[in-house]
Amino acid sequence: MPGIVIVGLQWGDEGKGKVSAYIARGASLAVRFNGGANAGHTVRLGEKSLSLHMLPAATVSTRSAAIGPGVYLDLEELLRDIKRLEEAVGKVEVVVSPRAQLVTPLQLMLDAKIEELRGGGSIGTTRRGIGPTAMHKYGRLGLRLCDILEEGEPGALVQLWSRLWGGLTPVEVDKTLNEVRELAIQVKGLVGDVASLIRSKLSLGHTVVFEAAQGTMLDIDHGTYPYVTSSHTVSASAAIGAGVGLKSINKVIGVAKSYTTRVGAGPFPTEIFGEIAEAIRERGGEYGATTGRPRRIGWLDIPQLKYACGLNDVDEIFLTRIDTLAGQEKVRICVSYEGVGESFPPSVSSLRKTKPVYLELEGWPEIGEAEREKLKSEGYGGLHPAARRFIETVEERLETMVRYIGIGPGVEDVIMK
Ligand code: IMP
Repeated sequence: MPGIVIVGLQWGDEGKGKVSAYIARGASLAVRFNGGANAGHTVRLGEKSLSLHMLPAATVSTRSAAIGPGVYLDLEELLRDIKRLEEAVGKVEVVVSPRAQLVTPLQLMLDAKIEELRGGGSIGTTRRGIGPTAMHKYGRLGLRLCDILEEGEPGALVQLWSRLWGGLTPVEVDKTLNEVRELAIQVKGLVGDVASLIRSKLSLGHTVVFEAAQGTMLDIDHGTYPYVTSSHTVSASAAIGAGVGLKSINKVIGVAKSYTTRVGAGPFPTEIFGEIAEAIRERGGEYGATTGRPRRIGWLDIPQLKYACGLNDVDEIFLTRIDTLAGQEKVRICVSYEGVGESFPPSVSSLRKTKPVYLELEGWPEIGEAEREKLKSEGYGGLHPAARRFIETVEERLETMVRYIGIGPGVEDVIMK
């Protein structure tokens, strides 16, 4: 009766969409439990890519999804996701927790406003209203789906927001309420008991995949604060955000790219610029799935990944995009930080000062369509020895098994070690 958490070990965009869809083959439920429409989980369906913002990407495999109370719910994005997904794969079942906090036009407006006020020190948010929705939630001023559906008149709350932020006219208060109410009515039929659904699936022996959004280094407590998102992104948050106990989680699969990327501002010890960064960005299509921004590129960072493996209790690593890193004469892995060793510094100022110590390894040849198909039949032994050396170095340094290796964009472009 496995409950499997898929968690990103870097700054998001590790390829969790594809990984979840792969791991969820044969599973019966996919769960989103954190973040909101700031996520963009991309999955390849035939020749097309589909980026989902509110639904877990694993829904392409399970056809059944749940959105837990820990999610910041953007109703418009949810309805759009359902429509796009159903056009692509046919009918899907979706259950949404009534306790999910709603993102309304006010939180979207505040996100943009706060970023603007931060000026040069902006976080580089996705502007999906995440920070302000979290502020309202933890300030106990949040609007949940059940509040608008059951109580009908959260007008006093929205008036309070208006007085607090001094930004909404009475007309805007009405508009906010009407827009959100109308959308909430459209999802009314989807509201259900997410926790009971998960428990019943697990007790029947079915597999449930909990698909985390963002990545470990964006966690509000454990990430590179304040350059983080406003939710927990580590594996432990799957239980809280879905509304189940810890015993519902049996396995944690940590997803890491063969290099590192980050969108938005904030420290990034192994960041690289120039030709190699450009080549990786272009080959990997490293542009934000939600915002289209070019992603910053860097080498794989062992101290960072070690920290992430510990935080998440990772059982197995899914190393993605070994094909994107191919074609380089030499590749690098950061194995420690000068004068600091393998520990990951907590403050932005110390992170900005860290100097990576690199291990340089031989690169491996490009993996085209023909090589990919050959590799799928040959398995791990068919990989170029330099690629195997890279993977085994990661495994040894992290003392964690790399069980899956992504060799292409398709859901099935995977070999097992
Ligand atoms: P927010 O979550 O929109 O508030 O953005 C906070 C930071 O997290 C920014 O640097 C974003 O670029 C980053 N971020 C948020 N969601 C994702 C994601 O799904 N992938 C990668 N970065 C993300």
